[in-house]
Amino acid sequence: MITLTVNGKRHDLDVEADAPLLWVIRDELGLTGTKFGCGIAQCGACTVQIDGKPVKSCVTPVSAVKGAVKTIEGLSTDLKSPVQQAWLAEDVPQCGYCQSGQIMAAAALLRDIPNPSDADIDAKLTNICRCGTYPRIRKAVHRAAAAMAKGARA
Ligand code: FES
Ligand code: FES
Repeated sequence: MITLTVNGKRHDLDVEADAPLLWVIRDELGLTGTKFGCGIAQCGACTVQIDGKPVKSCVTPVSAVKGAVKTIEGLSTDLKSPVQQAWLAEDVPQCGYCQSGQIMAAAALLRDIPNPSDADIDAKLTNICRCGTYPRIRKAVHRAAAAMAKGARA
């Protein structure tokens, strides 16, 4: 039995210790906002946060999770997170597949670096977008940073 806290809720789960966190989130908890892309820690589609840090859930055994997990469903219940608002305002997604991971990684970045430069964004946001939405992602991160500087909470 594994105990996992996801989006503020505690779960006791009968899963294998080496089951990837991604599949526990999706298949056991039904939180399908977190996506599977490569399965080898390369693309970032599966990014969630553990205690505020971005983690690639496809290569994280569920038994290795020591902190509180946050998925895209837990970022806000009403799309009011400044990052989600910025993504909407900049119309970032194209196909959308990578965007849960992008948003979770961006929210974590903004917690670490409240006013990131383009170079910070390029260095820290390494998630892959096959649709090439990188310029809009950058704009949205700057927009979210500006909103947070005025008091919006990540
Ligand atoms: S699915 Fe996890 S990094 Fe690609
Ligand atoms: S929006 Fe299509 S992969 Fe990123």
